[in-house]
Amino acid sequence: VPVSRIRNFSIIAHIDHGKSTLADRLLQQTGTVEQREMKEQFLDNMDLERERGITIKLQAARMQYVAKDGEVYCLNLIDTPGHVDFSYEVSRSLAACEGALLVVDASQGVEAQTLANVYLALENNLEIIPVLNKIDLPGADPDRVREEIEEMIGLDCREAILCSAKEGIGVDEILEAVVKKVPAPPETVDEPLRALIFDSYYDSYRGVIVYFRIIDGDVRKGDKILFMASGKEYVIDELGVLSPSQIPVDRLRAGEVGYIAASIRSVADARVGDTITHAGRKAAKMLPGYEEATPMVFCGLFPIDADQFPELREALEKLQLNDAALKFEPETSSAMGFGFRCGFLGLLHMEIVQERLEREYNLNLITTAPSVVYRVHTTSGDVIEVDNPAALPDAGKRQFIEEPYVRLEVITPKDYIGTLMELAQNRRGDFKELKYITTSRASIVYEVPLGEVVSDFFDQMKSRSKGYASMEYSMVGYRKNDLVKLDISINGDSVDPLATIVHRDKAYNVGRALTQKLKELIPRQMFKIPIQACIGTKVIASESISAMRKDVLAKCYGGDITRKKKLLKKQAEGKKRMKSVGRVDVPQDAFMAVLKLE
Ligand code: GTP
Repeated sequence: VPVSRIRNFSIIAHIDHGKSTLADRLLQQTGTVEQREMKEQFLDNMDLERERGITIKLQAARMQYVAKDGEVYCLNLIDTPGHVDFSYEVSRSLAACEGALLVVDASQGVEAQTLANVYLALENNLEIIPVLNKIDLPGADPDRVREEIEEMIGLDCREAILCSAKEGIGVDEILEAVVKKVPAPPETVDEPLRALIFDSYYDSYRGVIVYFRIIDGDVRKGDKILFMASGKEYVIDELGVLSPSQIPVDRLRAGEVGYIAASIRSVADARVGDTITHAGRKAAKMLPGYEEATPMVFCGLFPIDADQFPELREALEKLQLNDAALKFEPETSSAMGFGFRCGFLGLLHMEIVQERLEREYNLNLITTAPSVVYRVHTTSGDVIEVDNPAALPDAGKRQFIEEPYVRLEVITPKDYIGTLMELAQNRRGDFKELKYITTSRASIVYEVPLGEVVSDFFDQMKSRSKGYASMEYSMVGYRKNDLVKLDISINGDSVDPLATIVHRDKAYNVGRALTQKLKELIPRQMFKIPIQACIGTKVIASESISAMRKDVLAKCYGGDITRKKKLLKKQAEGKKRMKSVGRVDVPQDAFMAVLKLE
């Protein structure tokens, strides 16, 4: 197929608006994947993803399509991950395309993630084709949604395609629109090789598999290539296309999408956004847009059983081979013993890693509450980055602290505007904008400390709006605030993983709520346990857990055996996730208590 008949595109959508269903339909309609080998949602092929119903890792698929003009076209669909934690990966996938299908659920309308994705597509100068999906639903209102897209995005929607990915309506029209509206890639095959990496993953047999789009030049099996950002050189063992399974080929050229295997040891050598060029005939400049991964959220991971520390290290090293954004270093805590301080792109990324460690590596872990990265200006004039509240320099050594802020956009039906603004206000948000999209829905923009968002903001937003509001955020920079460290001690021992950094104005309320919560969560022992919250040496709140008087089973009067069993089982389950801090057993929930104070 000549370059003039290649189309590279992706699908952008808010979660659940039907991206995967539509992708499946396109693969079916073009005969790329036979019905019977079609797993439900072919492109999301990781278990964890399917369970959570979200796309984490992106993939690609090449389709042959005979258009109405009688010509055969090569359509490359590049999938994008659907979560704010991975917006850099989304932007690199979009940079590998000339066009995007903008899928909006016609029964819902424009949501926060729709907008965030559209901004990324516009930054990459993509041709955007609006698709109104789920028109089979009785509640679909394509006219209203068309208006919303025009109002919010300024996109002409007169030719928006009406579609039901579920029933296969509008799929032909979409394929034709991709052929007609998405521009062909430029003809730059004679220039030195530049290929953009939009995904990579670690395969234990072949090393890292790299997915890329060739922007300039061409590449062959056996070529010696250079990754321009990492500076690593490798020889290509295998080159191929994704259909969507991997099919080896001898050569790929400008405009095409494919993969390579080159016995690459770690994804850090071939990161998303890096440029592949020839080691012999180097490109003058890297492709724009490469960024180092900067972890935004940190937490401590401690094995419950200290003997598992070496296994935890090994598991983290293995995960890192496949995840260049995961950072970790050893951490020693007086309360918790040996563990690791780990850095993540965001909360979802953190949860994924924690879950893998427990599920795939059978580790029993205590995880501490997530923290953001603070910039501390010390009295000696240095600026240090602190990702662990326990490591905050003493008040006497600090001039001031800065914390990261995000621009937060919430889209909501108008009934919830009041309660959501109150939520943002409680989280120290600075109001920026309130805009009605239609008479019934609005967009609210705040600038909020990231630390206030990574606690349970998302859950609060969902519960206050009965599930109808959506949100997205992006970093806007650091700001100085009057922050203090709140220390927690249990039974006289300061428990460093429970330390938290809060605004001075909120410290008393947080201290009181946190000590009360801990009182609920920590099981009684044979002795009385005092719990205190302090700023420096000043105690600002205290509670105590009274001593257990009788054996738990005594309550059962020896009568009801099933109840007795249940109680024992519950105790055993609770035990699994307990860490002994001094003489007190502290359950996993207690380490997350600070996130659940509202
Ligand atoms: P993520 O992968 O989680 O980002 O979601 P997605 O955008 O890929 O959505 P997905 O394709 O998983 O669809 C979400 C839900 O909507 C599923 O239950 C689909 O069956 C359903 N769905 C998708 N398209 C249609 C449609 O045209 N009509 C109806 N009625 N339901 C649809």
